[in-house]
Amino acid sequence: MLEIIILAAGKGTRMKSNLPKVMHLLAGRPLVQHVIDRARELSAGKIHLVVGHGAEQVESALAAADLTFSLQAQQLGTGHAVMQALEKLHTDSRVLILYGDVPLIRSATLAQLVDLAGENSMGLLTVNLLNPTGYGRIVRAADGSVTAIVEQKDASVEQLLITEGNSGVMAVTAKQLRRWLPQLSSQNAQGEYYLTDVIALAAAESTQIKTVLAADEMEVLGINDRAQQAQLERAFQLQQARQLMQQGLTLLDPSRFDVRGRLTIGQDCIVDINCIFEGDCVLEDGVEIGPNCVIKNARIGAGTHIYANSTVEDSQIDAACSVGPYARLRPGTHLKAQAKIGNFVETKKAVIGEGSKVNHLSYIGDAFLGDDVNVGAGTITCNYDGVNKHVTQIGNNCFVGANSTLVAPIKVGDNATIAAGSTITTSVHKDELVVARTRQRHIEGWQRPAKKK
Ligand code: UD1
Ligand code: CA
Repeated sequence: MLEIIILAAGKGTRMKSNLPKVMHLLAGRPLVQHVIDRARELSAGKIHLVVGHGAEQVESALAAADLTFSLQAQQLGTGHAVMQALEKLHTDSRVLILYGDVPLIRSATLAQLVDLAGENSMGLLTVNLLNPTGYGRIVRAADGSVTAIVEQKDASVEQLLITEGNSGVMAVTAKQLRRWLPQLSSQNAQGEYYLTDVIALAAAESTQIKTVLAADEMEVLGINDRAQQAQLERAFQLQQARQLMQQGLTLLDPSRFDVRGRLTIGQDCIVDINCIFEGDCVLEDGVEIGPNCVIKNARIGAGTHIYANSTVEDSQIDAACSVGPYARLRPGTHLKAQAKIGNFVETKKAVIGEGSKVNHLSYIGDAFLGDDVNVGAGTITCNYDGVNKHVTQIGNNCFVGANSTLVAPIKVGDNATIAAGSTITTSVHKDELVVARTRQRHIEGWQRPAKKK
């Protein structure tokens, strides 16, 4: 069986934050969530998290059936952290050790590493670095075999010149951990129990240390401060952008494009600059998204255009619709085919029928509009009486004049016309015209008040 230990007890002092380090976000999800997701791709029998700083917060945020938590009350080092999970391991398991603050690790690399762990061997993920400062260095004998890892703070001047760094990821067996961990000491520059010291113990008993070299530094980069967080965020976003471009997405600028969740695309979609996609989003064929749009949990039908500066949340938009610029589609909006929502229009829990138009400056909430309805500028559904939300229903082919106020609950029958400026408080029948505004008066020769000289 494969078991995975994820170290997540550290405070992350350099983040200068109240939030435990592994709970900081990358692409909208906690760092450690990325690591857990990669671990899950290996179909491990169990995933153990070692938590410490903010343990309750981390546990309650991550709790899932396949995770167990071990508390490391004091952070006495990475070796000490692994010890906390030791008793949970099955005797015959292979064990992969991951860091909760290294989010871009790839599961293919991990699978390769796991294969190297055996009775007389172990796997170690290393990385060649232009600047290895801060990393443990991989010490090799003349024949190339690994003999030890020496931490930056404990390294000699010659050892500091080594450019092969320790990623921190290793694959071993539970039996090896049970042999090696009790032998660790904290006699070192940081007074910590280093996990990395198991390498020298392995070498001493002639366990083969087989290394895998990470393809690039990003994969093993840990997040210790906000600058690294930003750097990895951009790297991750660029990765996602490249994958989507390979699938056929046109991005006007892949460096100004963010997916915090999952974006699924059809053919020939175009996304302009500065767009953010959150949660689960689907763009069907030929969708175009203008600049500065925020799209969250939305399905957007084929050929629909979303114009600049619009936000769409928990909504469904069918084919060939037009939205924005400056539109706000709030949760529960459903635009049927060829509907049109124009500038400064807000919708919420609203179904807008086929070919219907709400073109300017309106609020449509808790409303059902039929097909081919035209809603004039400045129209408001008054859905809220201070306690309850009420529904507005408008039939097919209605014309709602500009600046109308529809005080819900209201029903408007098919083909009705509401005159501009009307305040509608009782239902409107089909085919009729309703005028609900004060009649215009004319007062001839009216003298405006004048200032006294
Ligand atoms: C560690 C490695 C170093 C490697 C580097 C790669 C050791 C001794 N050193 O150093 O060789 O090059 O990672 O990034 O392992 N943690 C705990 N409990 C603790 C201490 C740490 O859970 O008591 C967790 C942290 O939350 C973090 C991870 O272990 O997720 C790594 O700890 P960190 O202190 O960042 O190790 P480094 O000094 O970076
Ligand atoms: Ca680190």
